[in-house]
Amino acid sequence: MTRPVVIVTRGLPPAWLRALAHCELVIGPDDPPPPATVAGTPWAGRGAWCERTWSRLPEADAILSLLTEPIDAAVLAAAPRLAVVSNMAVGVDNIDLAACAARGIPVGHTPHVLTQACADLTLALLLAHARGLVGAAADARAGAWTTWSPTGWLGRDLGGDTLGIVGYGAIGRAVARRAHAFGMRLLVHTRSPITHAPGDPPLQAVALPELLAGSDVVTLHVPLSPTTRGLLGADALAAMQSHAVLINTSRGGVVDQDALVDALRRGAIAGAALDVTTPEPLAPDHPLYAMPQVLVLPHIGSATVGTRRRMAELACRNVLAGLEGRPLPHAVR
Ligand code: GLV
Repeated sequence: MTRPVVIVTRGLPPAWLRALAHCELVIGPDDPPPPATVAGTPWAGRGAWCERTWSRLPEADAILSLLTEPIDAAVLAAAPRLAVVSNMAVGVDNIDLAACAARGIPVGHTPHVLTQACADLTLALLLAHARGLVGAAADARAGAWTTWSPTGWLGRDLGGDTLGIVGYGAIGRAVARRAHAFGMRLLVHTRSPITHAPGDPPLQAVALPELLAGSDVVTLHVPLSPTTRGLLGADALAAMQSHAVLINTSRGGVVDQDALVDALRRGAIAGAALDVTTPEPLAPDHPLYAMPQVLVLPHIGSATVGTRRRMAELACRNVLAGLEGRPLPHAVR
């Protein structure tokens, strides 16, 4: 009996892929360079291993993709047998959903299993910024900690500050619960009606301009889509308070990054903490790195051992369901 061919676009620990043991796994390299940002296929210019992996597309029954791989019209056209695309991420902005739908190919993703890890990282950024952790740690390491200082390394209390949460899906809600526990007041902007679940904190639903004007910290939890691309542009940033901080753990494209650099340079906002950028990775000479009021992380929102493993296992379950013609446990709607 022939085994289904599953392309796994990047290297993953074999234990995470155990559920696909009966498949022929074509596994891509661990850390290939990012795909061409201007034009080309997801394998163009990324080395022989990438090319070998993607050259199996004509036989592929499934693709288990990572968010670094565009699954676009070129990929789909090269894969006539494809029964399912399973993204090991909650966000699916790397996938041409319309092209998949036109071919009747279901697309899976991995919501819920990463909610707590992403909310934890958002709070880590919130706290790191409020208390100046990165600068204080660097000073200590550099020998600038010469005495306990009554006026040195002063941060901001979170209690009593207002957190504006843009997007109130599972991650936005998990962030709200944590921030409430720190005594923060909550403003929320979301397009869907807010449903209250037991344990949810008190919050005020507001329009985006009201949230931007009224928040000490703004945190983004929306998927990247044509509606949200550039949502935090020059006008939105100008609407924020000059002492306010922007946190982004969603997708870099939700923020107009040039407008952000400009707002930070002019002091229109006080700082930013970014787990996501445009592009990724952000080149080491990018001006954001040179700003002491900016913290940039290499997209690690879901990066815990347990979470990444659960994401991979869910991605495998989506692959299996797609191969068997069953509804995916977590299909993108
Ligand atoms: C990570 O950014 C994800 O979408 O899962």
